Amino acid sequence: MTPSSAADHHSASPEDKILVLDFGSQYTQLIARRIRECKVFSAILPYDALFESIKSFQPTGIILSGGPATVTEEFTARAASEIFEMGIPVLGICYGMQTMAAQLGGKVENSLVHEYGHTTMALVEESELLSGLGENSSNGSFGEMDVWMSHGDRVIELPEGFTATACSANSPFAAISDGKRQLYGLQFHPEVTHTPKGQEVIERFLYRICRCSPNWKSESIIQNQIESIRQKVGSDQVLLALSGGVDSSVCAALLQKAIGDQLICIFVDNGLLRLDEAKTVYQTMTEKIGINLLAIDAADRFFSELAGVTEPELKRKIIGRLFIEIFQEEASKLKDVKWLAQGTIYPDVIESAGLQTDKAKVIKSHHNVGGLPESLHLQLLEPLRELFKDEVRKIGSELGLPHEIVYRHPFPGPGLGVRILGEVKKKFADILRQADAIYIEELYRHDLYYEASQAFVVFLPVKSVGVVGDNRAYDYVVSLRAVQTQDFMTANCMELPHQVLQIIASRIVNEVAGVSRVTYDITSKPPATIEWE
Ligand code: XMP
Repeated sequence: MTPSSAADHHSASPEDKILVLDFGSQYTQLIARRIRECKVFSAILPYDALFESIKSFQPTGIILSGGPATVTEEFTARAASEIFEMGIPVLGICYGMQTMAAQLGGKVENSLVHEYGHTTMALVEESELLSGLGENSSNGSFGEMDVWMSHGDRVIELPEGFTATACSANSPFAAISDGKRQLYGLQFHPEVTHTPKGQEVIERFLYRICRCSPNWKSESIIQNQIESIRQKVGSDQVLLALSGGVDSSVCAALLQKAIGDQLICIFVDNGLLRLDEAKTVYQTMTEKIGINLLAIDAADRFFSELAGVTEPELKRKIIGRLFIEIFQEEASKLKDVKWLAQGTIYPDVIESAGLQTDKAKVIKSHHNVGGLPESLHLQLLEPLRELFKDEVRKIGSELGLPHEIVYRHPFPGPGLGVRILGEVKKKFADILRQADAIYIEELYRHDLYYEASQAFVVFLPVKSVGVVGDNRAYDYVVSLRAVQTQDFMTANCMELPHQVLQIIASRIVNEVAGVSRVTYDITSKPPATIEWE
């Protein structure tokens, strides 16, 4: 899947749509999210998207993101030049402004002094985008704005029709505009929180310049999706692999609301789930949401295929393959199914497009239900593929899913299989489940659960000596892990209070037979990953 297919197939057809052309900035997704926070729909296309696909998206306005390239070389990233002739507003941010200036006849140079971090910029002209946002304005001065910059190149000559609306010590053209053609450029990044009035700048662009209305709301997303699902599916039956995670649960709840009993969910218990997880998922989804759910207990099959296997990638492959096999066996018993629904969300769409470049190295083979659509010959239904995680969560709550499910930490597809180091055995999984449940319970009790992005226990198949009462113990070691992260690409170890760690360690060693020692993993990512395997 490429981001272009996400933009082409937007099914909710909101009236106002902002297109973000991605020049490779680490903030591109953030720009799209900021727009949606203003209740305006946004989608991302690669910078070299053909003009045809840009036009068919029918954008109300376009934003050109920043990026790592330099326009000072001959063959670097450029946007389709027709976008500047469409008569709709275009905002270039950082590299986006530089390419806009260069493409329209201005000049960009590699500056000797690079600007990184906070800068104060003086507003020097009236502009629709920035006027009134300056601090310390007085008669004859438009004031100053604190902004966040990150650039090496700078515009040194403006294209015809443009004026400078702000300047900083190192950027004579920190903000530029051509009001007549509605073309705007910002050398700074309004999308990051380090630019205090950044969100107001984005709102100006959306509401004042593009004249968008704030109509993109979760209730309307639900209503639009329900209609679009009904239209697509008609009276066909739809199958969904329910994992109990946020995305597949919200997808199931949304489909249930749209098509009721035409939805059949299959939940495979692979024996590698958390304590009571299968029971909780079954009860919530059937009793609260009214889902037609087929629960398959396949734990023995997973444990027997995993016996003797210690290599992490091989374990992942076995768990992934078995899941597909079992799902297929069950699906083949259902006769009239035509669709396979998946809880793909927008970051998955963007990331899978990113992974198509040969630059990405496989660190771990993350796979959940990959491979299913091809092998089952079913049509794919992905009602969440335009939504960011926070939007999915909001919809989940509105559809009646409990807070604990909607805001639960992520849990990897291979489950405890990658949290039991080396060979996976049922006995180890049982020990780990109990220890993990105590850890999570204490985090909730101390109001720390939602401060962590992800917290879990890892089982180490090594034994250490302890003393219990008057006796010598010789049992296994577990490690606690808690990380804080925005995007799970990098993560910091969370600083849990020592006192809480001690309570958890003491409870685990006393309450879980088979554990003699508890450690705390303080490694960040990179160099470590979040999971241990
Ligand atoms: P790592 O360990 O790569 O994890 O730093 C980053 C995030 O991805 C989760 N993870 C997975 N999620 N299938 C998934 O759906 C997988 O195979 C998988 N492996 C890791 C991990 O829990 C963390 O949130």
